[in-house]
Amino acid sequence: MSVAIPEAEWPHLFRPGSIDAPVLLMLHGTGGDEQQISGLAPALDPRAAVLAPRGRVQENGMNRWFRRRSEGVFDTDDVARRADDLATFLIWARSHYELSDRRLVAVGFSNGANIALATALLHPQVLARVIAFSGMHPLDRAAADAGSNAIDARVAKSELAASAVLLRNGTSDPMAPLRSVQRLVTVLEQRGAQVQQGLRPGGHGITETDIASAVEWLGTVA
Ligand code: MLT
Repeated sequence: MSVAIPEAEWPHLFRPGSIDAPVLLMLHGTGGDEQQISGLAPALDPRAAVLAPRGRVQENGMNRWFRRRSEGVFDTDDVARRADDLATFLIWARSHYELSDRRLVAVGFSNGANIALATALLHPQVLARVIAFSGMHPLDRAAADAGSNAIDARVAKSELAASAVLLRNGTSDPMAPLRSVQRLVTVLEQRGAQVQQGLRPGGHGITETDIASAVEWLGTVA
């Protein structure tokens, strides 16, 4: 499938890396950008290519990946639509940057983790590897208390047998509550994904333990 996405429509950064290394899709959190999140990539794999788009939703001047009604309460219809858009961007980028069959691994923080997880849930053929730092269930209509039930049907049909996800969360993170993370683990596993979950003390963020665990996980799946 070939799609045209002019640079101006989707600002992003690309570094080619070594041909035999994976492509890290770096997805920033609320208020971040592609430059800031890309700084994390060398710690994960210094040889990796880096593809880092910028979230196209604005909230009080901050870049985000999808709309929310309030903190932790997502507009799930918008989450699904933006995940569809990101999947289209990834198909374009694979062709435009001649990535051929190089392994693509999303690395997202917070809101970036949530869009990575939504894209992996809805488009597993496009994105089958995710490292989610401080992420949660992005398409949880029970928590969103709204949204179309077509999303549930899409998730229920998703075939994730070839997908692998690393979830790293703090045990006392009010922005990514463990009950939401657990609902996500249930959905991912029900659909056949290989899930590795790592909990650490503390809240929202990325710790050295999270990085060490991600490096180890990348060595086994990427
Ligand atoms: C989200 O909106 O994705 C989460 O609440 C995390 C964040 O504040 O970005």
